[in-house]
Formats: sequence, structure tokens, C-alpha cells
Amino acid sequence: MNTKKTIVAIVVILAAAALMFILAMIIRGKSDTGTNNRQSESTHSSESTVNGGTPAVSDTSSSQSSTSSVISEPISASSSSSEFSQPKESSDVSASQWTETAADGERYVNTDGIYSRIYAIQDSDAVKQYSLNDKVTVVAKTDTDYFKLEDGTFIHSDYLSENEVIRWTESEASGEYYVNADNVYSRIGAIQGSDTVNQYGINDKVTVTAITDTDYFKLEDGTFIHSDYLSEEEIKIDLESNLPDYASTTANGYTIERICGITYVDGVMIANKTYTLPRDYDPGIQPDAYDAFWEMQSAAEADGISLYIVSGYRSYYDQDAIYARYVDSDGRDAADTYSSRPGHSDHQTGYTFDLNSLEQSFENTPEGIWLAENCARFGFIIRYPKGKDAYTGYMFEPWHVRYIGREKAEAVTASGLSLEEYYGITSDYALCTDE
Ligand code: DAL
Ligand code: ZN
Repeated sequence: MNTKKTIVAIVVILAAAALMFILAMIIRGKSDTGTNNRQSESTHSSESTVNGGTPAVSDTSSSQSSTSSVISEPISASSSSSEFSQPKESSDVSASQWTETAADGERYVNTDGIYSRIYAIQDSDAVKQYSLNDKVTVVAKTDTDYFKLEDGTFIHSDYLSENEVIRWTESEASGEYYVNADNVYSRIGAIQGSDTVNQYGINDKVTVTAITDTDYFKLEDGTFIHSDYLSEEEIKIDLESNLPDYASTTANGYTIERICGITYVDGVMIANKTYTLPRDYDPGIQPDAYDAFWEMQSAAEADGISLYIVSGYRSYYDQDAIYARYVDSDGRDAADTYSSRPGHSDHQTGYTFDLNSLEQSFENTPEGIWLAENCARFGFIIRYPKGKDAYTGYMFEPWHVRYIGREKAEAVTASGLSLEEYYGITSDYALCTDE
């Protein structure tokens, strides 16, 4: 019996030990399998993140290696080649953020400075910079509105067009023109900011072969200069500044004096068809005129009238460009009735504002009526009154006010005369000492 009991006990102990061993092996086995699974996920993460049958992440990974050739090309400041040689873990950006559908064909970049990116999502790392009208081949489109390119990178569909962007159209023009300022550049394209080619100085002569709808002249060498910087006539250098100072009296007995090329009558700076301002007289808006405008504007506002400036100070060159455009469109004789030649504009004095509307019908608007009735008490006159063309040299401009100080403005306005009649001076290109 005892022997039997002992044998049973030994069998039970052995069975228990065997059971514990098996349990231990099972537990260890499970533990090993878990580790292997994690390693497996890590190793094959790109496969496990394939989305919609499109291996987006593994494509991106391959794009990272395939883009190694373009890494040497300019890339955005935020991207460095080291970022590309050590690409982010593909699991950083889940491929489930986009799906791809097949697309093909050539597209054109429609804006300068566009970057392709490693992922089809906003602000992912930039790979390569493109310029306007660069041609690319697309291979897919994403539901995040990116096109995938042959190299596996992505450009947002907003920046790719089916056709080349037409930047300007040219129409026939010809003739010799003069550069009207120093440091003017010709450019490779007829658009602002395109690369510069040659530098020109004032009165350099160029031959024009076309004009663009972007307001550039095309030159014989195929480059472009903005029309603002080319004039049909040579610029008179040292305009009047070499004329001697003098002092005299006008036909009406007012003091007329020229100081450094600028003519003053009764202390009022004069720019009209007879009297010019120097080319380099460039004062900007005169502070007393500007302050007076804002005082007048506030008073008008209190009366329910809104006044605003549509044109104020204009430099010699601004005026040259404006006048040239009017001559182009209407001819010189017509332009001379409403636009000053450069050096002759009241706007170059810095004391002048065009307000609200450049239509003669402005005269009969509440604003035009208020302005005519009230501007003198703020120091302004209507510089080109109705029916005074023969004296001022210009047609009626109910919007153009000139600051001459309150006392003088009230006297001139009360007289019903133009400034020229009031002071007894002319406005006539034929009498201009500089013409
Ligand atoms: N419209 C005025 C006359 C000017 O061009 O200065
Ligand atoms: Zn004006």
C-alpha cells in the first residue's frame, strides 16, 4: 500500500511538473509571438498602411529615394538635404490621409515659386521648386487635390494647369523711344518682377518693336521695358533750373519771382502751361495742404458729405507717363486740353488733390456742390473753373482743388476768376521759356 501510495504521489508530482512546464512554454511562446508581431509591423509598416490598393506610403518612400537626384536642386528653406537622406518614418504621416486615382498627362505650373512636396498634404516637406510654365508629367490625383508627379512628389492641383499660362499678348508698335529715368532695367518678361537684363539711363534711345497688354514695350533684343519709363521725346535735363532767378510784377501788379527754377506769384507756387517745375522737383504732398484736406474732409463729413482723394502728388515722371498714355489714346492736341505735360502739372506742386470723381458731372453731385461752396474756407480753389479754359489752358475740372491758403483762396473764389486771371499771368505752351 505504502509503495502504491508513493508511486501515485510521484506520478501526480511528475504530471503537475509536466503541466507547469507545458504552461510555461505556452506563456513564453505567446510572449515571443507578440514581439515578433511588433517587429513585423515595424518592418512591413508600409504594406500594412496600403490604402485603397494604392501603396501611398511605400510610393512616398520610393519617391524619397527617387528624389535624391533632385535634392541637389533648389529646395525650400525648411527642407534640407539631410531631411531627405533621412526621411521621416513613413508612419509619421499616415497614408490614409489621401487616396490616389490614376491620372496622366502633362501639366504646366501656373505660378512662380511653387514646390513639389513629399506628401499629398499641406505643408509637408518641399522637394523641388518650380517656375511659371514649367512642364510636369502627372501620374495620379489624390482626394486631397494634389497631383502626383513622375518622381513620386506632389503638387497641389491649384498650381497645375492643362495649358501654358499666357502671360501677355503683343501688338504691333514701332519707333524710337527715350528712357525717361535713370536706372531703368529691361526685363526678360513683360511682367513685373521678371528678371532684369540691361540697365538704361535717362535719354538712352531704344527701338520698340511691340507693345504688350501688360503695358510693356518690347525692344529689338526681345527684352521689355515698362511703358512708364519710355517717352517719345527726349527728356529735357535741367529743365529751367539753369534759368536765372528773377523778380518782377505780373500784368495785375502781383510779385512774380523765380527761385531755383520755381515760379511764385504773390508767394503762390505756379505750375501751368507757361510756368514749369524742375524735373527733379519732387516734394511729395505738402503737409499744410494735406492737413487742410483732412480738416475739410471732417467738416464735409459733419454735413453728410464724403470727400476722398483719388489723385494727389504726382512726380515729373508720374505725369510724363500719364500724359504719354493720353497722347497715345487721344492724340497730343486733345491730351493738352485736360492733361499737363511733364513739368507743367499742378499736381507736381504737392498742393493739389483730385477728389471723388474725374467726371464733369461731379459738379452737380452733393459732394461737388459742397466742395465748390466750401473749399475756399479751407484754403483750396477749384483750379480749373468752368468756362475758363482760355485762361487756365485746361477744361473744367470740378474735382481738382489747389491749396493756396485760406485768405488767398477766399479772395480768388470771391472774384469769380481763375487763378491766371486773378494774378494776370498766362498759361500757354507757346510762351513757356523752356519749350
Ligand atoms: N489734369 C491736370 C490739368 C493735370 O494733368 O495736371
Ligand atoms: Zn487734377
